[in-house]
Amino acid sequence: MMPLSRLAGILIPAMAFLSYLRPETWKPCTEVVPNISYQCMEVKLYKIPDNIPSSTKNLDLSFNPLRHLGSHSFSNFPELRVLDLSRCEIQIIEDDAYQGLNHLSTLILTGNPIQHLAPGSFSGLSSLQKLVAVEINLPSLENFPIGHLKTLKELNVAHNSINSSKFPEYFSNLSNLEYLDLSNNQIQNIYRKDLQVLHKIPLLNLSLDLSLNLIKFIQPDAFKELRLHKLTLRSNFDSINIMKTCIEGLAGLKVHKLVLGEFKNERNLDTFNKYALEGLCNLTVEEFQIAYFDEFSLDDIGTFNCLANLSAISLVSLYVVNLEKLPKDFRWQSLELINCKFEQFPSLSFYSLKTFVFTANHYSNTFVEFELPSLEFLDLSRNGLSYRSCCSQADFGTTRLKYLDLSFNDIIIMSSNFLGLEQLEYLDFHHSNLKQASDFSVFLSLTKLLYLDISYTNTRVTFHGIFHGLESLKILKMAGNYFQDNFLPDIFTELTNLTFLDLSTCHLEQVSQRAFDSLPRIQVINMSYNKLLSLDILPYQHLHSLQVLDCSFNRIKASNIQEPQRLPSNQTLLNLTQNDFACVCEHQSFLQWVKTRKRLFVEVEQMVCATPSDMQGLSVLSFRNSTCQMSKTVISVSAVFVFIVFLILVLVYKFYFHLMLLAGCKRYGGGECTYDAFVIYSSQDEDWVRNELVKNLEEGVPPFHLCLHYRDFIPGVAISANIIQEGFHKSRKVIVVVSQHFIQSRWCIFEYEIAQTWQFLSSCSGIIFIILQKVEKSLLRQQVELYRLLNRNTYLEWENNVLGQHIFWRRLRKALLAGKPWSPEAAADTENKEPEATASI
Ligand SMILES: *[C@@H]1O[C@H](CO)[C@@H](O)[C@H](O)[C@H]1NC(C)=O
Ligand SMILES: *[C@@H]1O[C@H](CO)[C@@H](O)[C@H](O)[C@H]1NC(C)=O
Ligand SMILES: *[C@@H]1O[C@H](CO)[C@@H](O)[C@H](O)[C@H]1NC(C)=O
Ligand SMILES: *[C@@H]1O[C@H](CO)[C@@H](O)[C@H](O)[C@H]1NC(C)=O
Ligand SMILES: *[C@@H]1O[C@H](CO)[C@@H](O)[C@H](O)[C@H]1NC(C)=O
Ligand SMILES: *[C@@H]1O[C@H](CO)[C@@H](O)[C@H](O)[C@H]1NC(C)=O
Ligand SMILES: *[C@@H]1O[C@H](CO)[C@@H](O)[C@H](O)[C@H]1NC(C)=O
Ligand SMILES: *[C@@H]1O[C@H](CO)[C@@H](O)[C@H](O)[C@H]1NC(C)=O
Ligand SMILES: *[C@@H]1O[C@H](CO)[C@@H](O)[C@H](O)[C@H]1NC(C)=O
Ligand SMILES: *[C@@H]1O[C@H](CO)[C@@H](O)[C@H](O)[C@H]1NC(C)=O
Ligand SMILES: *[C@@H]1O[C@H](CO)[C@@H](O)[C@H](O)[C@H]1NC(C)=O
Repeated sequence: MMPLSRLAGILIPAMAFLSYLRPETWKPCTEVVPNISYQCMEVKLYKIPDNIPSSTKNLDLSFNPLRHLGSHSFSNFPELRVLDLSRCEIQIIEDDAYQGLNHLSTLILTGNPIQHLAPGSFSGLSSLQKLVAVEINLPSLENFPIGHLKTLKELNVAHNSINSSKFPEYFSNLSNLEYLDLSNNQIQNIYRKDLQVLHKIPLLNLSLDLSLNLIKFIQPDAFKELRLHKLTLRSNFDSINIMKTCIEGLAGLKVHKLVLGEFKNERNLDTFNKYALEGLCNLTVEEFQIAYFDEFSLDDIGTFNCLANLSAISLVSLYVVNLEKLPKDFRWQSLELINCKFEQFPSLSFYSLKTFVFTANHYSNTFVEFELPSLEFLDLSRNGLSYRSCCSQADFGTTRLKYLDLSFNDIIIMSSNFLGLEQLEYLDFHHSNLKQASDFSVFLSLTKLLYLDISYTNTRVTFHGIFHGLESLKILKMAGNYFQDNFLPDIFTELTNLTFLDLSTCHLEQVSQRAFDSLPRIQVINMSYNKLLSLDILPYQHLHSLQVLDCSFNRIKASNIQEPQRLPSNQTLLNLTQNDFACVCEHQSFLQWVKTRKRLFVEVEQMVCATPSDMQGLSVLSFRNSTCQMSKTVISVSAVFVFIVFLILVLVYKFYFHLMLLAGCKRYGGGECTYDAFVIYSSQDEDWVRNELVKNLEEGVPPFHLCLHYRDFIPGVAISANIIQEGFHKSRKVIVVVSQHFIQSRWCIFEYEIAQTWQFLSSCSGIIFIILQKVEKSLLRQQVELYRLLNRNTYLEWENNVLGQHIFWRRLRKALLAGKPWSPEAAADTENKEPEATASI
């Protein structure tokens, strides 16, 4: 027989070869969304794949050596919306290459060394909105065959070798064009006639980016009466004088937003001269942004005179000095200072400013008060600021503030409870280091606040009134903080409008039963990354609107949440991934419930067992409840078995001697009795036994043969064995000599108890009691059984007078005679044996 490994060695390469031959089984593309989205990036395709569903809408074919696009290349994909052909080494695009793609809205051709672009290349693309033709060797816009793409909104022809600013005639057809990126080309001169066609486009709302073209000349009036949405000129000038004349050349332009400056890595100007901006006075600009000039001093107000009437100013990555010196009556409504350098925190004072964004700046470590009476929006995030007394109206000089972002700063001391800032709707402190936030009701006056973020602020919640006053609050984020004793107390009582609550990473172990009672509108509760051991601690009854409960990354073993009244709503999505589920029979009803209500859970396959060890890492869905039924039976059967064995052992232990007796009875059952009576007595009474009992009974007529331990027990055998084998088994009767000593001796009582069993088992039975001396009643009562027997049976009492003794012996003999086999042989036998027995003592 052929060994398996050899068979596999032949079959596997053969199958691989076959599958290579059949293209439909060879699928190099990744299915991102079935039938909709396919990703075939860098899989060495030489032609358009034909094994992808025709319903595909997104197709990424980038980084494949396609090289040549013939006509109707994509006729198999009439539904395409997005087609990415980046870096496909395409050199030739034939007529009608994209014919049939009537729904295509985005076409990406970046990085193809196109040499031949047929005039009808883009025909048929009747819905195209975005064309990315970056780095495609385009020498000019003139012969770019896109004149019919009337739906085009965005055209990116950056990084080509266009050397003319001439907008060809066909632009008059592109009436929807909103964005044209001509950056990184070789445009040097801009003439009025080049831009003529733009005047013909009705409702032109174009954003034009000309960055990174080394511009030498702009004809004055070139932009006159042109209306643009945005014009970007960054890193365009290699001298400050050229910059100045070019800005003057923009005179007459009406532009919503003008962006000037350089790029971090593309610096052409050595120094920046404020006079370069003088030409801005002849432009109509609403928003102005300037970025990456080395030193941007505002010491001379003249520089900014032309900017006084702007509505929005944005300064990015500049070294700014003397911002405070600007006059208070500038009309700016919005000021943005991003990633700038300052000598100190700028103490501003503008009457009109409504929005102030001061973020990611340097050298401004301590907050200084400012005076902005119209301010509504304030973003002071990411400055490493320390703030000695936050926050009140005096700090910002406004009572209109609605938005305040102080996130990612340094220490912020909460010492004032937002006095005069009652209009606040949005307040963000996350990743700053809050002090004293939990000492009093800091937010008490913020009755209009809708959003509060104090995540990761090092806050330790000890005061239960911390959120008092926030009656409008909808979103509360407080992840990454601490609670006293890791216990979530009842602190949300006034937040009746809350819809979103983030309590993740708060080290929570326990939750107050009433914590969520007052949150009827809550939709999302995030308790992930805590240390909860059970879901049952969460009170859900009142959470009628809950949509998502995220308890992932906790230590939950199981839950009773499956009880219908405990589940907040049948629409709630539960995220219980990454917990420590115990997949044991004890929790089988929970596990079974998870299986039947799979749709309630997020990524139910990610809910894995932590215990027992053989289930570790397996999904809770793989738990089989049948094993429980079996093990239940096994457990109960073995429990009963163990109990019985135990019982038997106890009984054996307790009645060991009785059993020995029983075994003996079987053995000797039919045998002859050697002795007439076995005498049980206390050794203290031995004198009486020797002198009275033995003498009278063994030497009388007829003689009785007594079993006496001092005489008849076999030496070398355990006393108990002797008692049973010699005493009881070989005797017809038992004589019990009751006395004070007898009652007090454990051995005697033991012998007496055995005697009772013996009497019970043996047919030739009879216990004869002799009361040797009066025993105290109280002592006798301790031996309940004996006491009862003595009460019920007649017994012999030893008397000290002669008459009494005479009667005693007669009665005793009579009792012993009862049942004695009376045959002459036996009598003779006994008589013969008698001396031997006596002699053997
Ligand atoms: C994908 O399309 C094929 C054929 O049109 C169809 O049979 C299949 O069910 C679709 N698959 C999905 C996930 O929609
Ligand atoms: C633009 O480049 C073409 C060649 O590609 C050249 O003939 C033409 O003179 C250039 N125009 C300018 C203004 O540099
Ligand atoms: C503008 O569109 C019309 C109609 O689609 C077309 O006939 C004309 O050639 C286009 N103009 C240019 C310059 O392509
Ligand atoms: C102009 O275009 C910009 C986007 O480029 C858009 O935000 C703005 O609303 C548009 N304006 C008009 C009037 O269409
Ligand atoms: C504004 O334009 C006029 C002519 O159009 C010109 O005389 C004046 O110098 C320009 N002002 C600035 C600051 O460039
Ligand atoms: C700003 O507007 C005011 C009032 O409309 C006007 O007097 C002033 O000349 C304007 N300044 C500039 C630089 O346009
Ligand atoms: C709570 O929200 C409701 C509906 O959004 C709104 O009508 C009500 O005024 C809010 N209550 C408070 C105290 O803001
Ligand atoms: C809960 O918080 C964690 C950690 O911050 C986050 O990853 C997760 O997306 C959040 N869940 C929800 C439902 O917002
Ligand atoms: C969910 O609960 C609503 C009422 O609260 C009920 O009408 C609906 O049928 C339930 N849906 C399921 C799938 O149980
Ligand atoms: C839990 O599931 C929700 C809902 O899908 C999701 O938003 C959240 O990010 C998940 N949590 C984590 C920690 O991934
Ligand atoms: C085990 O699961 C089945 C359904 O999969 C269910 O019908 C049965 O009642 C379960 N048994 C126990 C003991 O829960």
